[in-house]
This record gives sequence, C-alpha cells and structure tokens, in this order.
Amino acid sequence: MLDSNPIPSPEISNLAEISGQSCDVLVVGLTQEGSLSSTLQAVNQETGGWIEGLVSNGEILGKKGELTLLALPADSGPRMLLVVGLGSCDPDRQSAFESGSMIVRRLGDRPRGTVVVALGECFPESFHDAIVAGVLSGCDQQAIYQSEPALIIPERILFFGIADGKVQRGRAVGESIIQTKRLVNEPPAVVYPESFAEKVTALFEGTAVKVEVWDEQRLIAEGCRAILAVGAGSSKSPRLLMLRYDAGGSEKPLALVGKGVTFDSGGLSLKPSAGMIDMKCDMAGAATVVGVLHGIAKMGLKCNVIGLCGLAENMVSGDSYKLGDVIETRSGKTIEIHNTDAEGRVVLADTLDVAIQNEPRAMVDLATLTGACMVALGTDVAGMMTNDQTLCDEVQSAATDEGELVWQLPMFDLFDEKVKSKVADIKNVGEGRWGGAITAAKFLENFVGDVPWVHLDIAGPAFADTPKPSRDAGATGVMVRSLIRWVENQSL
Ligand code: BES
Ligand code: MN
Ligand code: ZN
Repeated sequence: MLDSNPIPSPEISNLAEISGQSCDVLVVGLTQEGSLSSTLQAVNQETGGWIEGLVSNGEILGKKGELTLLALPADSGPRMLLVVGLGSCDPDRQSAFESGSMIVRRLGDRPRGTVVVALGECFPESFHDAIVAGVLSGCDQQAIYQSEPALIIPERILFFGIADGKVQRGRAVGESIIQTKRLVNEPPAVVYPESFAEKVTALFEGTAVKVEVWDEQRLIAEGCRAILAVGAGSSKSPRLLMLRYDAGGSEKPLALVGKGVTFDSGGLSLKPSAGMIDMKCDMAGAATVVGVLHGIAKMGLKCNVIGLCGLAENMVSGDSYKLGDVIETRSGKTIEIHNTDAEGRVVLADTLDVAIQNEPRAMVDLATLTGACMVALGTDVAGMMTNDQTLCDEVQSAATDEGELVWQLPMFDLFDEKVKSKVADIKNVGEGRWGGAITAAKFLENFVGDVPWVHLDIAGPAFADTPKPSRDAGATGVMVRSLIRWVENQSL
C-alpha cells in the first residue's frame, strides 16, 4: 500500500524565560517604522548596535513578509537570527497566522534543532494562538510523496511570551488544519469513500467524537438513492460518515455537512483532462468537517455538533448514472439529471436530509461545488449563501475575525425558476451557465427544510495552484479556523 510521509509533529511548548536560552534559531519581529521588538532590542544591545546598523543602512526594511536570516556573531546564545518583517499597519490575526507559517517554511531548507519564536511581543495577546496555529499549519506541505522531504521541520519549537493556553489552542487548530489538508492532498487511490471513513474512524478513536459509517447496504436501507446514484459508476462504493460530539448537554446540535466526492471525473458528462487534474480535492468540504470536529474536540468546547460527510466517487462505467435519469432522493423530492458533473449537489441532497433529521439549530455546509463560484469571486474567496441572515452574519463575523475571505451571494427568488424540471421536482443544473454558484445553492435549499442554513462554496480557496510564502500549493485547510471560531462563539 502506498504510504505518504508521516504528518510532521515538532515538539512544541511555551518558554517563560528567554535570557540565557541557547537555540539554533531565534525568531524576532521588526516593523517598517524600524521599531525593534524587545527581544530584538536585547540582541541589538548584545551585538553592540549591529541590528540598528542594518536597519539604518536599509538592509532590513521590516516590510510585511520580509524574512532575513542572519548568523549571529556572538558565541553564546542563539546561533542564527530570523527577522520577520511586520509591515506598518496594525497587525491582524491573519498576519499572525501567516508569520507563523512563513517561519517554518523559511527555515525548512535544512535540519534545525531548537527554534525559539519570540513573536508574541509583536502581536496583541488575543492573536497569540494564531501564530502557533500558523507554525503548525505551515509544517505540512504538498510534497507528501517525495523521497527527500522538501521541507525539514525543526525538532523543537518554543514560543516565548505566549501563554500555555494560547499555545494549546493554536496547536489544536493547527493540527486540525493539517488533518484536513492531508485528507485532501492524498491521491484518490488512497482516499476513496471507504478509506476516508476508515481514516477518520482511526483519527477519532479514543476521543470524544463518535463515528458512525453507513456502508452501501445501510445507504440502500436509508433510501440514500442520490448518494448511491453518483457512486454507481465507481468500483469504490459510497459511504456516509456521521460524526457526533456531545458536550453541550441537552441543547440542539449544530450541524456541519461536507461534500466528499473523493474524485470527480465528471461522470458521463466527462471533464477534459485539464479540468480533472485537481479533482482529488473534491472532498475538501468533507475534510473540513473532519478538521473542525477534530479541533473542537481537542479544545473541549461545550457544545453539541454533528458532522456529516457524503462520500462518493464520480466515475464512468456501464453503471454510471445518466443524463435524463430521475432520482428519488431520501427526502422524497425527485431530481432530473441534466449533467452528471453537477454531482456534488446530488450527493448533498441526501446528506443534508440526514442532517436535518437530527434537528440541528443551525447548519453549515461546505462544498467545492461550482467553477462558477470561482468565476464570480476568484480563487481566494469562498462564496456564502443562506436562508437565514442572522446565521450568515455569525459565520461572516467568525471568518472576518480569522481573516478568511468569504463573500455573500444573493438568493433572490428568481433563481428558483432556474432549477425547475419539466419531468421531476427539480433538475441538477440551472438554465445555462449564468449564476451557476447561486443556482447550485438554490438546488441545495430544497433539502434543508426550515433549518437556518449557510452554504459555503469553497471551490476557489480549498485548493491552490501556486504556493505563497505563507502556504504551499495544494490543499489549504480553508474555513477550518473560521468554523472552529463559529462553533466556539455558539458554545456554552
Ligand atoms: N467539483 C466541481 C466544481 C469545481 C471546479 C471544484 C473547479 C473545484 C475546482 C463540480 O462538481 C462541477 O463539476 N461543477 C460543474 C457544475 C456544472 C456542470 C453545472 C461546474 O462548475 O462546471
Ligand atoms: Mn463535478
Ligand atoms: Zn464535483
């Protein structure tokens, strides 16, 4: 069996006292105004004003994202200094997160023993956990099958000036992002419905998250004909994964629902190669649900949450579902198939129906649902659609706090017309390509009953073509932070 490199896990802790601490690399901050963080100030003094000299000569600018690695002349204390440019505006949580991940990516070119990160003093305390989450998240990369690791993770990372509680929260969130990214980055021969369910079962063994897997027999018994239809063309049978975290007493649960198409060939409406190459990412919604549950359980939040992943592989065979087919979904509503490549909404039809049977007080679904959403908003912004503005505002505010980009698209009634079918209750595409992200959401709305619901189309931001200093290409783990924050805000 093909095996990827293990998930990196550097030793992590906080550091109460920095003076006299020897380490391989000391990480400090510098603003564009040239103000030295207090640890950098101390280094400057010990080196007879060396740092101030570099700053006044314009050799270090402190521009946001600038990384300067220096060998220190002193023969005690840290051997190398990494100066992180912080820019000139007030720091936000997103820059705290990005600084964290940039550091490990910059230092990953060779083995490092102990790295001391003294960036706490550069950010308000409320952002300290984001630095730690960034560091962790930056440790996992796209190249999980290269014989020589492209990124070498430090053995030990010590956070100076960050309280232990913040280190623990950051670690929980960072590790959750890694779990999500890993599931997405694994190739489709490794992650398919059955193995996705097995991996998640193993992940949550011995934790407060209870896992239930519906296999093909159970899907038949439950009437999940839409999930079964999408999976019919594959030799890998579909699954439904149900995660339960009950730590909120008698309150109604929050529901998180994810599209888990482990590979999307388009089915009989086959994609061209260029559109198919990244389609292992089509289970990113489901992987995000897993990451969020992982995080809230690690943090021990006081809430009830159920996570549902609709898992299927969209393939071509004599058993594939067909154009013109009519599927009676689990809810009883009938769908006419006009394009087998609009499979995500078909899988979600049944998955959402199972979710609302659990009577959630609010529900958020995540899906790499439409190319149209990328046309509308680009590759960095998630589309958000809702039937409940109050809930939508809550999710928006959690995302804004975390610095993840989401933008609401309208759900005007006129779009309802566009998914009506001449044969069945609805059809699985709109009229032509216009407004494709919205018609997809309108389709989903048919399966959410009167539960307050937000739909996040993450087709753009879930998977990146090109790397940035703060993250690798490939899976991004987008919305894990925002949704953990949203659940936390709803907790007791
Ligand atoms: N998984 C795709 C959407 C997608 C495209 C995600 C690019 C990530 C990157 C989805 O199943 C799909 O194929 N959607 C079609 C819908 C159309 C047939 C109505 C699309 O967007 O073209
Ligand atoms: Mn598709
Ligand atoms: Zn798809």
